[in-house]
Amino acid sequence: MWTRLVQWVDERLMVSPLWRDLADHPVPDHVNPSEHVKAFVYCFGGVTFLLIIAQFVTGMFLALYYVPDIINSYNSTHYIMTQVAFGSQVLAMHNWGSSLIIIMVTLHMLRIYWMGAYRKPRELNWIVGSLMMLIILGFGFTGYLLPWDEKAYFATQVGVNFVKYVPFIGNALFLAVAGGPSIGAATLSRFFAVHVLFLPAALLGLLGLHFLMIRRNGITGPY
Ligand code: HEM
Repeated sequence: MWTRLVQWVDERLMVSPLWRDLADHPVPDHVNPSEHVKAFVYCFGGVTFLLIIAQFVTGMFLALYYVPDIINSYNSTHYIMTQVAFGSQVLAMHNWGSSLIIIMVTLHMLRIYWMGAYRKPRELNWIVGSLMMLIILGFGFTGYLLPWDEKAYFATQVGVNFVKYVPFIGNALFLAVAGGPSIGAATLSRFFAVHVLFLPAALLGLLGLHFLMIRRNGITGPY
């Protein structure tokens, strides 16, 4: 019954040829750690991807309870940590995950740099990767404000004040980032929207491009 249902859906969606194409794609020997011990460096990108998925999942659960306004954000964060089942664990995973991603993506970039994998024909993938790095840092910056405690408030004030020093457009840029003349309710709404809507959409799009180009160009090596 179950197999027939899967077959019925597959006949209409035609997913299995796509899945077979992905699953049957052979992993080259030089990328396989069981063939070459040093090949473990090739897993940094994949580990970063796994951590990103974990951030999406934990973030979705946090969003069930977090309330993004200046009256409720601190209390809702406190509620997640003290009242919600596994809330403090999920919040801790999200918090630690953000730092781990930055470590893994840096190791991944170093691997690319060390192997010269940014050279032709992979220059565009290096550029897409660099944009994703900025997005990852953007996630960290916007997420830091969300608990709306003193540390978050003053750290964001320091960070946002930096944009004032951009020549000519500094003040306009400050208004655009903070949503007003100082850090306040508008900043929190803006940072929340950017954190949960704008950045995830941009990251998913760029990840798609990144993986498409890896598939088209193959993996660098062997060395
Ligand atoms: C945002 C997170 C990122 C994810 C999830 C990711 C994921 C991956 C994966 C799974 C691969 C396959 C090979 C491997 O894992 O080493 C790869 C390859 C590659 N990545 Fe990333 N990447 C990210 C960020 C970056 C950054 C920041 C750069 C550079 C600025 C970059 C540049 C490249 C290049 C050039 C390749 C092709 C390497 C080759 O052919 O050997 N990636 N990426």
